[in-house]
Amino acid sequence: MALQASYPVTYQPETAPSWLHHAAVLGGHLAPDPSGAFRYLELGCGRGYSALLHAAAHPNGRFVAVDANPDAIAAARDAAEALKLSNIAFDTVDFAANGFEGQFDFIVLHGVYSWVTAETRARLRAILRERLAPGGISYVSYNSLPGWAGELPLRRLLSELSADGVAAGAQMVDGLRKAGFAYFTANPTAERAVAGWSARPEGYLAHEYLADAWDCLWSVDVMDEMAEAGLAFAGSATLRDHHDALLLDESAARAVAALATPRQRMLAQDFARNRGFRRDLFGRDLPPDSNGAALRDLVIESTGEIPESIVVPRGRVSFQPAFIAALRGLMAKGPQRLGDAVRALGESGDVARNLMWLTAAGALSPAVPDRAARAAARTALAKMGVVPES
Ligand SMILES: C[S@@+](CC[C@H](N)C(=O)[O-])C[C@H]1O[C@@H](n2cnc3c(N)ncnc32)[C@H](O)[C@@H]1O
Repeated sequence: MALQASYPVTYQPETAPSWLHHAAVLGGHLAPDPSGAFRYLELGCGRGYSALLHAAAHPNGRFVAVDANPDAIAAARDAAEALKLSNIAFDTVDFAANGFEGQFDFIVLHGVYSWVTAETRARLRAILRERLAPGGISYVSYNSLPGWAGELPLRRLLSELSADGVAAGAQMVDGLRKAGFAYFTANPTAERAVAGWSARPEGYLAHEYLADAWDCLWSVDVMDEMAEAGLAFAGSATLRDHHDALLLDESAARAVAALATPRQRMLAQDFARNRGFRRDLFGRDLPPDSNGAALRDLVIESTGEIPESIVVPRGRVSFQPAFIAALRGLMAKGPQRLGDAVRALGESGDVARNLMWLTAAGALSPAVPDRAARAAARTALAKMGVVPES
């Protein structure tokens, strides 16, 4: 548990109910309404930072967040009390125990699924099978192949060199990198990873490279295992994953599209992007958004100055200055339904696509029901020292 307690505390916007709704609708599904009443469970919440901010922003939701680490749960409870949140309960529960009750519309696991044993993963799927309500969505993030293949040997090297602590070990590995070892030349992702280690938050290296229970998984295997638990793949919580044009150049996109089955295309996508981390959504009996009404009803908001261009994995995408000026004027009035924004900005397919691309790049955001309450909670938690001041 000492190792887990050192895991850096970060907020994960992709696990917010409003974000999950948005992503599932982009995937072509109807999804639980984050502005109404809903039940939300986080498995492996650590000190509960994300769950606390979601509870502050979604006063209509009932939140339960569990972790096996009693110190982390005690800290999370203290924070909930200090924030006067009455819609969240933190419980010390080991996934192995049968300590769960009721059903949930959203169940999220971040930084958990590929950081536990295969036996615990099976237990987690059993919890999802029993506890995800019909029409509900689960979010599961994990380290994936082939993106991790180049870095995998670093786990062995760092663990052998960390007898005097992980910081000293990391410095020694960096020294070997600078000495021009062939492994780094042959594995540029490992080269870049080690070069970036010093900028990583404290605790990251131990969590990612030294944990005993650690794996990297194939997306298609995770999809199969979830299917056995009665859950169907429902898309990605990383919004840009819904827009191939932002990710792949034309020849790569054509090569992926030419493959015969969705399964082959999913695997090929992972190779096309050399993906090492995924945030997948799985649904239980999610109805399709057959007439696109849920897509038109998605609510987006501005989080700051909307730029005239965005940078995405494929490169820079620029928008017409006149379009961005009109969009800035519209979004200054507050959150907008996608369908209303399209009507206001010119009613063309390009406008809808541009709005979704801007949202995928973070220039716009899925609207949060009470963004001000979330910001106030974040400030209060920073003042309490739960998270670093940003
Ligand atoms: C890497 S942390 C992620 C914390 C949080 N989800 C986040 O993203 O900040 C993984 C968490 O899973 C918890 N965990 C690991 N195995 C567990 C188990 N068998 N039962 C309950 N919690 C467990 C750990 O205690 C730890 O807090």
